[in-house]
Amino acid sequence: MKDTLVILNLKFDTSILYVENIRDLIVAGSTHIELDFTSMTTIEPFGIVYFSNFIKSISRIRGLEISCVYIDKDVSYAKHMGFFKNCGFDIGAEPRDSFPTKATSYVPITILDVGSLRQEAIDSYKEVGDIIENYSINLAKLLTSQKDDTPLVDTLTYCFREIIRNVVEHSGSKKITFCAQYWPYLGKAEIVVLDRGKGILNSLNENTTLPKINDDKEALNFALLPSISSKVPYAKKRKSRNESFWKNSGFGLYMTHRIAGLGGDFFVASGKHGLRWVRDQKTDHHVRLKGTILRLLIETNNITELQDTLRVFREDGFALARQLTEMEIEPSSASLMLTKHRTK
Ligand SMILES: Nc1ncnc2c1ncn2[C@@H]1O[C@H](COP(=O)(O)OP(=O)(O)OP(=O)(O)O)[C@@H](O)[C@H]1O
Ligand SMILES: [Mg+2]
Repeated sequence: MKDTLVILNLKFDTSILYVENIRDLIVAGSTHIELDFTSMTTIEPFGIVYFSNFIKSISRIRGLEISCVYIDKDVSYAKHMGFFKNCGFDIGAEPRDSFPTKATSYVPITILDVGSLRQEAIDSYKEVGDIIENYSINLAKLLTSQKDDTPLVDTLTYCFREIIRNVVEHSGSKKITFCAQYWPYLGKAEIVVLDRGKGILNSLNENTTLPKINDDKEALNFALLPSISSKVPYAKKRKSRNESFWKNSGFGLYMTHRIAGLGGDFFVASGKHGLRWVRDQKTDHHVRLKGTILRLLIETNNITELQDTLRVFREDGFALARQLTEMEIEPSSASLMLTKHRTK
């Protein structure tokens, strides 16, 4: 028997919900799921990446058929973004396999090879962080059609760089998937980065100086705290900086979530759990992922000089990191600590 799921849009909440709906159908023994896109309106980068990634992963389940119906003229954007091909349907454009080279207010699904980034670094005698930085600057400029280092370009560059660097440095994934859109008239930009690597929980648990982290939810809350890293000994004073500039200090997720917090929206999910911060409201979400996804929705009109903003966040972060050092808090208290810190 065929089960049909009508997809009305792929915004943030609906994408998460539809994935749960589909999983329920599979658990209930469905053998054929038809996705009905004939009434679909808005689709946004998070939905494009998260939903298609899920469909692709379940298309490997033996004995399960996934099909879709759509009205061609109504899905030209989805086709262009590589959405259908990434689901596994032979419709529309393939996901891109290289960084964009032309100005565009939307970046279709792009799947990069981590090995090639590393090779590029070796070939040019640079660190992979520098290679990612260069691509991130370009990406930010093309997305915003701004040629100079404006505060918006600097901010988007910073965010792209930190979340792409995390995939390369921590996930163990061979590929990085990203997708982005800038809506100048709404004053919003959305960046989504996904990997199918080991996940935040496994990565942090590799650091034996950290207390044992029990589940994805604890891992996410803990990872957001400044100075928490799989690569930094816990609760020890760090040596003064003399090594590579890109050495991990556990500030990447903390800083990006504060930047998105400037009127925007931050979401990180890994394994089965997702955390979303909208202003000072935190919500928890069930997700289905092999690996990690980040979504930053940036309120572009709230962006002022990046260096000033970062300085404030960094100072806040250092103060919080100092408290952590003194208290050696457990992962289960991380959420409370971050909430108190953000609403202070
Ligand atoms: N994509 C990912 N896959 C697996 N683990 C991740 C991923 N992103 C982050 N993490 C985990 O979360 C931790 C915190 O990330 P964060 O970016 O805040 O710090 P860092 O990368 O260790 O240091 P910094 O960003 O300051 O160089 C990482 O050390 C890693 O254990
Ligand atoms: Mg990082």
